[in-house]
Amino acid sequence: MSDKNTKNEKMEAIVSLAKRRGFIYQGSEVYGGLSGTWDYGPLGVALKRNIMNLWWKMFVEDREDVYGVDAAILMNQKVWKASGHVETFTDPLVEDLNTKQRFRADHLLKDAGFEVDGLSLDDMTTLIRENDVKSPNGNPLSDVRTFNMMFKTTVGPVEDETSVSYLRPETAQGIFTNYRNVVDSFYPDLPFGLAQQGKAFRNEISPRDFIFRSREFEQMEIEYFIDPANWEAEFNNWVVLVHEWTDALGLPAENVHELEVPEADRAHYSKRTIDFEFDFPIGREELLGLAYRGSFDLDNIQREAGKNMAYVVKGTNTKFIPHVIEPSFGVERTLMAVLSSAYTEDEVNGEKRVFLKLPEHLAPVKYAVSPLLKNKPELVAKAREVYAILKKKHGNVMWDDNGNIGKRYRRQDEIGTPYCVVIDFDTLEDNAVTIRQRDTTEQKRVAISEL
Ligand code: GAP
Repeated sequence: MSDKNTKNEKMEAIVSLAKRRGFIYQGSEVYGGLSGTWDYGPLGVALKRNIMNLWWKMFVEDREDVYGVDAAILMNQKVWKASGHVETFTDPLVEDLNTKQRFRADHLLKDAGFEVDGLSLDDMTTLIRENDVKSPNGNPLSDVRTFNMMFKTTVGPVEDETSVSYLRPETAQGIFTNYRNVVDSFYPDLPFGLAQQGKAFRNEISPRDFIFRSREFEQMEIEYFIDPANWEAEFNNWVVLVHEWTDALGLPAENVHELEVPEADRAHYSKRTIDFEFDFPIGREELLGLAYRGSFDLDNIQREAGKNMAYVVKGTNTKFIPHVIEPSFGVERTLMAVLSSAYTEDEVNGEKRVFLKLPEHLAPVKYAVSPLLKNKPELVAKAREVYAILKKKHGNVMWDDNGNIGKRYRRQDEIGTPYCVVIDFDTLEDNAVTIRQRDTTEQKRVAISEL
């Protein structure tokens, strides 16, 4: 079997497990779905929150120099004009001339084996013509043109040019627009950061690869304001912090790669970008980005809004517009990296077993508690007691009395529960329970008082 097939099989196995076990479902599935949208089930939302809370703790709560904000998704249209998104937030689009279906030109060319980095629209059209590249339906293609990825909407009862707004395509602008507010309220020393987590929306031409490229997703972004003289040291420091983050997620270091993005491929605002790529089952792809945005955004706000964005260094007359280092993390891609690193198959007692080797601090369920037999009231009562103790202490504890004990273990393995606690007849005598560890399947007796 080719490597590609093996990888896709793994991806399919993860997508199927995610649906079967209540992590992630296709958005609006009962109505036939809505392409590029995904809904989180009980375990998916728990895993997602564990990831987002870990990030917030590591980058906001545990630091002195980072402040949290939570800006509105809908913003004044001037934000997106000033940021350059109205003009340049585009992807290359081609149309199937027979079916009128639309595709991302760079993806079609990449899938056909061409190198596309740095190509202009005309270059792509030429490649398509010279090599007679067809749509996935086998039909001829249009010339390549740009397509703006922002979702347009109108705010208020009157629909005209002045009421136009957009669903934010990045959370970053909600941070920049609050830079002055936070400086005026807190007057932090430079360098300092503003962090935000929240939804972002992009009308991707071809959403694909499960939650990897969707139309509605979540970002966790920090705009770190610095003295421009120190940008290189600050940038390098963030490279280290990003690796600390991927370590904290339990992602194997050998699967995380730094890609120095060449100038031609960088976003319009970036003076330096490193894409952190991860070896997903679909191949090596971007997990998150680290960009040096210079003073691009604050300059734009100062010019377009006419508000002073200068920072005055305390106790001096020195003032300048700070520069910005931006680590930008996608929640869904993080979750997909965590799930695909955790997905493991092995053999237990001659039978294939699937389990999620999730780090304990990310696992949606920490303990599953079961009575050995669910039709023995004395066992159920004792198990309920143990469940209540653990639930109070850890919160994310599951009561599981479905099927026989072997089936329960398999089910808990599949959702990545690190420990299964079983109450049996001996428990009634010795007040000890059996704890079974997910990865090793080892079982040991532990006194309830020591749980
Ligand atoms: N403010 C900078 C910014 O938004 P970006 O590289 O366009 O930079 C940052 O996006 C991160 O957001 C990406 O590295 C990725 O993790 C995530 N992301 C971007 N588009 C996405 C999509 N369509 N679906 C899922 N995640 C996406």
